[in-house]
Amino acid sequence: MLFDKFDAMSRAREELAEAGVSPFGAVAEEIHSATEGVVQGKPVILAGTNNYLGITFDPRCVDSAREAVARWGTGTTGSRLANGTFAEHVALERELADFFGVARAIVFTTGYAATQGTCATLAGPGDVILIDADCHASIYAGARLSGADIIRFKHNDAADLEKRLRRLGERTADTLIVTEGIFSMRGDIAPLAEIAELKRRYGGYLLVDEAHSLGVLGDNGRGASEAAGVEPDVDFLVGTFSKSLGATGGYCVSPHPVLDDIRFSIRAYIFTASPVPAVVASVRAALGILRSEPALRRRLWDNARRLHQGLADLGFEVGPEASPVVAVPMDDPRRALTHWQALLDAGIYVNLVVPPASPGDHSMLRCSVSAAHTEEQIERIIAAFAALPGD
Ligand SMILES: Cc1ncc(COP(=O)(O)O)c(C=O)c1O
Repeated sequence: MLFDKFDAMSRAREELAEAGVSPFGAVAEEIHSATEGVVQGKPVILAGTNNYLGITFDPRCVDSAREAVARWGTGTTGSRLANGTFAEHVALERELADFFGVARAIVFTTGYAATQGTCATLAGPGDVILIDADCHASIYAGARLSGADIIRFKHNDAADLEKRLRRLGERTADTLIVTEGIFSMRGDIAPLAEIAELKRRYGGYLLVDEAHSLGVLGDNGRGASEAAGVEPDVDFLVGTFSKSLGATGGYCVSPHPVLDDIRFSIRAYIFTASPVPAVVASVRAALGILRSEPALRRRLWDNARRLHQGLADLGFEVGPEASPVVAVPMDDPRRALTHWQALLDAGIYVNLVVPPASPGDHSMLRCSVSAAHTEEQIERIIAAFAALPGD
């Protein structure tokens, strides 16, 4: 039967419902600010939002969106290739190209479309995509769609990447190496200096998904590639507007003039409606804030270090380095579930991540920190973790 494959999901959901927890699709009944809302009827501190700069309620973004909806209407009702290219889209592409210091940028309707569409289009049958094992589902989806040979290298392991590049021989000329900046799940950072050096030595092309590092890393907030000093080595930078820029949408920028032709070959760009102008206007305002207010980045990192240290002091295995994504691994998925609920009962909303979405076999409680969190809120998050029942 067509539906048999959903039996396991159905059973898992029933078990969760019987246990009285509903972690997937938890509804935010109210959102009061970047860091506060109401979930399951309880006022909570939002500690799992990817709202890194905390600007979702910034009046400059809200007012830009409001003015744009009045000026352009609620939607474009068409794809960029048909009737869906408005002056707002073109202006944002110009501003992104200027920000990243390249000639070309493409704006997509979602970050997923940006990564999936770019990977699916850049490589094709006969080519190779070398992917960090922990890369996001959208990258895997694009790689599969491309028809290229997919080879995974061990997460953040440049030596393993080198082994695979060496084995490829002349095929490296047709190879796309794909990694992320800050990784979405564990919050660790790709060794981009080493990866860029390998690309220079062996050939191929490098694509970096900066979804979680835009606005977070680099002196100018351009991401992990800027922080590692390898921007000239990166052939394609992709990312999303749904995290530090507080909206939705995605981008791809590149120094290669061929990006103009690639744009018209990406099905996830051609065959979908373009981003809503109000969203684009708020992203433009958010990009302006990202560029002009480095203090937000400093506050984000102060909060990230505070939470990381607090959880490490409690004995949680939070990884060696502070990061705005603070993942607490849990060996037992049931324990992850009860802890997730206990945190929520204590007024702290974090993300519950279970396989296959999590890397390896781990479940995890994934926190993400915002520049908008106050010290007191970070301390309350740490206190809620401290109060979790032991074994
Ligand atoms: C690394 C990475 N790439 C791409 C995406 C997709 O972005 P969006 O959710 O904005 O479509 C995400 C979102 O979670 C992500 O974490």
